[in-house]
Amino acid sequence: VRGVVVAVDGPSGSGKSSVCRQVAARLGLAYLDTGAMYRAATWWCLDQGLDLGDQLAVTAAVRAMDLRMGMDPAAPHVRVGETDVSAAIREPAISGAVSLLSTNLDVRAELNARQRALIDAERTDGSSGGTGVVAEGRDITTVVAPDADVRVLLTASEEARLARRALEVHGTADAAAVAATRAHVVGRDAKDSTVVEFQTAADGVLLLDSSALSFEETVSALLALVLDVA
Ligand code: C5P
Repeated sequence: VRGVVVAVDGPSGSGKSSVCRQVAARLGLAYLDTGAMYRAATWWCLDQGLDLGDQLAVTAAVRAMDLRMGMDPAAPHVRVGETDVSAAIREPAISGAVSLLSTNLDVRAELNARQRALIDAERTDGSSGGTGVVAEGRDITTVVAPDADVRVLLTASEEARLARRALEVHGTADAAAVAATRAHVVGRDAKDSTVVEFQTAADGVLLLDSSALSFEETVSALLALVLDVA
């Protein structure tokens, strides 16, 4: 049986990670968080004391990286060698540095190739036991898997995204927390936008705006889009 491939892109704070994990879990699909791959690569380079602006050294390090992506939506552990970096890659130091690494086009080519291989394995034989994969990031619908069965751009207004991120990071979405979050979220999206387009839906990509939707409603909407084609 050919596995289904669901590609989801969106800016930070769109809720795509939690929504995609939930949809993958409900449908028994594997889950691939490509942002976690850029984060793990950033962790790996910083761990070796590399200057992320040194494109040649960073590219060589990423090519040599022994990255193991857990694709179980219930516990998508990320390992570099034997080290579980799942928690470390969420630290502010990584979030603040990752965009510099992801503007390196040779790094993108390397990670894109690994992402395609992971997706293809799920498409052909569901190697992790699933019947397909939900892959999310910034360029999955356009560059990594433009041939995916379902392609969705998950967006939300800037206001909604800032409130969600503030709640996640500071435990509250009051004015001060939103202001503290703004620089990070807007700044990261601006940097990321220089190399990948994820603010507007490309041709054939379905737009799902979650600004006015709860988490559960967003999950239902994405499930409906997937079941529509599957
Ligand atoms: O999705 P997340 O916010 O964890 O992604 C972290 C970073 O990885 C993004 O800010 C972006 O720089 C990079 N990224 C990317 N292409 C992807 C996924 C993530 O450049 N497909």
